[in-house]
Amino acid sequence: MKISLLAFVGFLFVNLAYGQTGELCKAEHLCCDHLPAPVGIDNPRPRLSWMLHDTRNGAKQTSCQIIVGTDSIAVTEGKGNVWDSGNRSYTGMMVTYAGQALKPFTRYFWKVNVWDKDRVRSSSPVSSFETGMMDVKNWQGAWISDRNDINYKPAPYFRKEFKTTKKIQSARAYIAVGGLYELYINGDKIGNHRLDPMYTRFDRRNLYVTYDVTSQLQNGHNAIGVLLGNGWYNHQSIGVWDFHNAPWRNRPAFCLDLKITYMDGSMETIATGLDWKTSSGPVIFNSIYTAEHYDARLEDDGWNKPSFDDSKWGRVIYRSAPSNVVSAQQLHPIRNVETIPAKTVKKMDDSTYLFDFGRNIAGVTKINVSGDEGTIVKIKHGERLYDNGYIDMTNIDVYYRGDRDADPFQTDLLILSGKKEDEFMAKFNYKGFRYAEVISNKPLNLDINSLTAYFMHSDVPAVGEIKTSNPLIDKLWWATNNAYLSNLMGYPTDCPQREKNGWTGDGHFAIETALYNFDAITVYEKWLADHRDEQQPNGVLPDIVPTGGWGYGTDNGLDWTSTIAIIPWEIYMFYGDSKLLADCYENIKRYVDYVDRTSSGHLTTWGRGDWVPVKSRSDKELTSSVYFYVDTKILARAAKLFGKQDDYIYYSDLSEKIKNAINAKFLDRTTGIYAGGTQTELSVPLQWGVVPDDLVQKVADNLARKVEEAGFHLDVGVLGAKALLNALGRNGHIEAAYKVAVQDTYPSWGWWIVNGATTLLENWDLQAERDISDNHMMFGEIGGWFFKGLGGIYPDPDQPGFKNIILRPNFIRGLKQFEAKHRSPYGMIVSGWEIKGKNVVYNIVIPANSTATLYLPDYVKGDKVIQLESGKHSLKLQFGK
Ligand code: BGC
Repeated sequence: MKISLLAFVGFLFVNLAYGQTGELCKAEHLCCDHLPAPVGIDNPRPRLSWMLHDTRNGAKQTSCQIIVGTDSIAVTEGKGNVWDSGNRSYTGMMVTYAGQALKPFTRYFWKVNVWDKDRVRSSSPVSSFETGMMDVKNWQGAWISDRNDINYKPAPYFRKEFKTTKKIQSARAYIAVGGLYELYINGDKIGNHRLDPMYTRFDRRNLYVTYDVTSQLQNGHNAIGVLLGNGWYNHQSIGVWDFHNAPWRNRPAFCLDLKITYMDGSMETIATGLDWKTSSGPVIFNSIYTAEHYDARLEDDGWNKPSFDDSKWGRVIYRSAPSNVVSAQQLHPIRNVETIPAKTVKKMDDSTYLFDFGRNIAGVTKINVSGDEGTIVKIKHGERLYDNGYIDMTNIDVYYRGDRDADPFQTDLLILSGKKEDEFMAKFNYKGFRYAEVISNKPLNLDINSLTAYFMHSDVPAVGEIKTSNPLIDKLWWATNNAYLSNLMGYPTDCPQREKNGWTGDGHFAIETALYNFDAITVYEKWLADHRDEQQPNGVLPDIVPTGGWGYGTDNGLDWTSTIAIIPWEIYMFYGDSKLLADCYENIKRYVDYVDRTSSGHLTTWGRGDWVPVKSRSDKELTSSVYFYVDTKILARAAKLFGKQDDYIYYSDLSEKIKNAINAKFLDRTTGIYAGGTQTELSVPLQWGVVPDDLVQKVADNLARKVEEAGFHLDVGVLGAKALLNALGRNGHIEAAYKVAVQDTYPSWGWWIVNGATTLLENWDLQAERDISDNHMMFGEIGGWFFKGLGGIYPDPDQPGFKNIILRPNFIRGLKQFEAKHRSPYGMIVSGWEIKGKNVVYNIVIPANSTATLYLPDYVKGDKVIQLESGKHSLKLQFGK
């Protein structure tokens, strides 16, 4: 039964209006393509979004007007020379630009006027976005490199000097690179990005990055310096994934346009060409996979400043562009996000020190050290120690096939200058580690401040928080996020040490956890573009993306490569933004059609199966076919959304056939058991909506029994780990789900934490001999489940992006306090509760311009379905029927 708020009398309902009547409703947090005031975008129809700051209960936007123009003052005054949407009775908070065609290299200012619940108008502050190249034909520079081949170790340095004679108004640098770069102007490093540009399938698409460099230029003499790293473009280290044989492999190359606008309105472009000079320098080796080697004796301080004597530098050569597509890098960049000082340092002997950073991360260390000229210092990074206290890399170097002397795994090398205190931090590599061992060929004096760690990852804004009275839950949530961020480097990876691969399955197993906790849409838009670049004409996808060719076999099936459907769908659910789903629509269709063509009787065995299980094995045909159903269902829903009626009918029908085939073959209707009845085999069909309605409870009861028999321990691999807690919690067994979630003996997530993990691991079994990375995200569902299973925060498929929030909280008697917060596109959602004996105080915040449908569990008294408006609400509830 649905009841209105006013008629709601079953509970003492305290509605805390915390805004003052008459307080302004204001649009804020303006973003363009999900980035605040981006510079250098290529999307001709960017998405403009905002949030409402309005703390009144029932706050909403009744209409809005978007104003876009090239004159900031005119836009402030409400005049937009390129787009004025007019007052539209639109209640969403994201609009796709629909004004005059955007021009390249142009800064557009924009604001939004909103009309609040009382139809009172207010204006947002003015924000901006700036277009970049918009079209490859707008590049003026040529791709250049040095004369060395792919095997040459030292990194190439490039420089060019130029003179300006007029006063500079503004300047932008556009840089596209095959490989990685650092850009300098007059000695200053430009920007704080790391490992730019992000890794793509280089022979299909290259990314360029735009910087506002106005403040780094000076009147008169200027110098530009560019240092290139290999990255994934020129993989010199040898691993089992064959990146050293990638079809795109080449010596790093780049193209740069520096556009200067002078005060008199004239423009000039300084571009790459044969007038640039090149040399090598102190970066004598760099590998994204293993490490970096640096010879401080070769430093030449002024190389990136004007008036440097480059007479000994050589000439550059022209190079063909790595691909025909050079598009803007529109995503949150990788940065050194967190500085982590060493917790302890231990002097093992005169020339060996062991640093412990106290937690596992992805990133780099920076060393500050002095010693004799030519002293060789090695910095080895690892996750584990041998009993004797030295670093043990056997859990992470197993797939490395390179030269362990010349190119040791996760081991930087520094040769001291002997002239000063040397400082070194790898520029073109990152590692996964908790410990670092510094070993030198001469005695060294180091202390705890000599080595500092930096946690590197795509710097996506945090949007989620879990706080509870159970420290295990808080630690699990934190560890999940550490694993997620350690594995986010412009694409989601499996682990930051052993592989750094964009494993598709790992990516989608973690997608909900990712989106509850981080505003990561820009990274997924990029990664799904990588998927589109990789997809075979017949629809097949490799199971790592990007790939140099590895990953097409028999395992790259539905349980992994369903990323193509699941991720765009979840992005649509969490953001209400259907662009990615639309961009991937034909790709999903090609993928589903491939499976349809190659499966018989609507069932498929294409996949890897329930990877890294505890002990029970699950039927692969069952799990793969369920993912076939999931993708087909998503395709049907997308078809409906985009008005593709024929597709909608066809794929709805196909999804029904798949479901029926799964149930006909695997479901025993009498017992309510799927296949052999493992935790995975029961939970996967429940989670993904395959179980016939009349049997859902029976199957769920069987699952609960199975879990109880296991003493509330896991007996699943990745597929079951994604499904289990949801399958229990959503079907009347929340206590069982909770017991599994907070279980702290083997096998469980909590067992890892009890054993000191600060990230999620790859294997349940701490004694296992393979698949034992200590920083993996594939079991990451746990961190997202707290938002769902306990906080009950779900997007509403009918009003996605949290326009309407589905709240299905669960109150656990054994957990005194719980709070989940998620900053949705509409603003902060809070769902928190406190248990007081037989009572529960349930506190909710619904952001402005959003609503919620609250479903209360049947173990509390009173009405079960309540419609809530925006604002703060506090409910006093009582356990009981
Ligand atoms: C990776 C996994 C991946 C798996 C698939 C492993 O080596 O680290 O996370 O999904 O392979 O087989």
